[in-house]
Amino acid sequence: MAGEYRADDWTTYRMVMGDPHQALEPPEKEVAVVDRALAELHRAGVIPHTRYDPVRFLAHRQAVRDLFEIPWTAITPRMQRLLYAINATVQPGCMIAAGVFCGNTFISNAGAGVGPGACYAASDLIGVEIKPEEAARAERNVRRIDKTGVARVLADDAIDVVARYPGPIHLLYLDADGTGGRGKGIYLDILEAGLDKIPPGGVVLAHNSVNLAEQLRQYLAFVRDPKNMRGSVNVIFDGEGLEASVK
Ligand SMILES: C[S@@+](CC[C@H](N)C(=O)[O-])C[C@H]1O[C@@H](n2cnc3c(N)ncnc32)[C@H](O)[C@@H]1O
Repeated sequence: MAGEYRADDWTTYRMVMGDPHQALEPPEKEVAVVDRALAELHRAGVIPHTRYDPVRFLAHRQAVRDLFEIPWTAITPRMQRLLYAINATVQPGCMIAAGVFCGNTFISNAGAGVGPGACYAASDLIGVEIKPEEAARAERNVRRIDKTGVARVLADDAIDVVARYPGPIHLLYLDADGTGGRGKGIYLDILEAGLDKIPPGGVVLAHNSVNLAEQLRQYLAFVRDPKNMRGSVNVIFDGEGLEASVK
């Protein structure tokens, strides 16, 4: 079943992409907005419960602030908290993030499994970035937080990585913007390459469900069709949005 969570202030909640650590609202407001999104995800069956450790999350946020080189990002503080919390509740053994740029999106997911915010033992957390210089920077960033190597960044095409991966993939995060005019239409190609490897209960997250909804039309129709995914929720609490789906 397809659903939606919409915060009242989503049109006015805006970040400066070159200043990702800037506080945009009082912390209790951020927590409340994300809690309401988590409640909707739980109601739709996307996540098993809504509890995550806010102290560990803040340790993760501080480590990213101290250690990551981020030239820009569209991941708002609300989205950073939501991605961490989804991973903290789903606890994916394997998580693959497609199109990670400098690694901020990747670590927002992987930070629940490695580094100072870790709350469970992950086995394989893979970020994929097609531009070698960006992949190298993302890998440098990730290495400063995760000394274990459980989280790693590959310079590759996410479609190929997902197609080659033996599985299972417990959580797939989509943020690649494609080449040759494909744009965010590539999400469906990546999902189709990995769909068989996502077990029942596996979660698929798609960034930009709001501002690039037109490019994502086919993708959104696919994940909102109950024949393909058991549930899907459009989280609208910033200008980008996140479609969170469960197989
Ligand atoms: C818009 S950026 C993601 C940035 C992220 N939303 C943030 O705010 O930090 C998309 C990234 O996907 C990468 N990309 C495009 N096609 C890809 C593919 N087929 N496989 C892996 N990465 C890809 C691009 O090089 C780019 O760095």
